[in-house]
Amino acid sequence: MSENCNQSCSSCSEDCAERKEQKTDFSEKLHEMSSVKKVIGVVSGKGGVGKSLVTSMLAVTMNRMGYHTAILDADVTGPSIPKAFGIKEKAKGSEFGLFPVKTKTGIDIMSVNLLLENDTDPVVWRGPIIAGTVKQFWTDVIWSDVDFMFIDMPPGTGDVPLTVFQSIAVDGIIVVTSPQELVSMIVSKAVKMAEMMNIPIIGLVENMSYFKCPDSGKDYQIFGESHIEEIAEKHNLKVLAKLPIDPKISAACDKGMIELFDGNWFEPVAKILEKMEEN
Ligand SMILES: Nc1ncnc2c1ncn2[C@@H]1O[C@H](COP(=O)(O)OP(=O)(O)OP(=O)(O)O)[C@@H](O)[C@H]1O
Ligand SMILES: [Mg+2]
Repeated sequence: MSENCNQSCSSCSEDCAERKEQKTDFSEKLHEMSSVKKVIGVVSGKGGVGKSLVTSMLAVTMNRMGYHTAILDADVTGPSIPKAFGIKEKAKGSEFGLFPVKTKTGIDIMSVNLLLENDTDPVVWRGPIIAGTVKQFWTDVIWSDVDFMFIDMPPGTGDVPLTVFQSIAVDGIIVVTSPQELVSMIVSKAVKMAEMMNIPIIGLVENMSYFKCPDSGKDYQIFGESHIEEIAEKHNLKVLAKLPIDPKISAACDKGMIELFDGNWFEPVAKILEKMEEN
């Protein structure tokens, strides 16, 4: 029996002899014509902290390094990936399955907005339908020769994140936070969820970390002092990147030109991901 045993087998990932119930395997098979080497989930404890932005920038960074990159937009009710990349066309299908849409620089994307007739149509579906859609993005889409797939998760720990982690073979999680949140609690939740799902956390990204004054070059901590280093240390995690508040970034997102972002904030993360791919 594990030292940490609390007799709650359903929420425990350890495979000990004392397990009272069999673990159920909910994993879904990738489409037989697909090939995806590494899958990275981008999560956060709450909305609006920059998950979609970080997902997009990570995909652009890995794509610039020559890896074939994809984004699975698991945020079915609030999809923002197609807009950031300026995608207007719809996804096409064949008798074999659905094809992702390619961005200008060759990143493969699947999102519910690429399937709706009008991208302003709201998705008013119940939880299981939404979760089923995300599952189909994994099982029914033909993802050809993808080195890195990034999954833009909806906020929180609800139905959809649970389905993603149970049904898709996620290799690692990146947690996005911002300085003003109750970061400690949010990181603790993410760590516990990852432990329950048996998925390693690659590290933390602090978004809106500071603002660099263009006149003086001085950094200002708009949302207060950051505690990300202490929190990371407490959980034995790495701080992968600190992204400044930059009007150029939000403008690029709004104009559908995130592929043109300028900055090397994600180079250290890219090196870590590259190592994952080698193994
Ligand atoms: N560092 C930044 N600098 C400038 N603008 C930013 C930055 N981070 C995020 N934004 C802007 O803030 C808004 C929210 O970001 P984003 O959509 O990535 O958050 P999210 O966590 O995905 O939100 P949701 O939970 O709704 O999916 C976007 O308009 C984005 O362009
Ligand atoms: Mg988002």
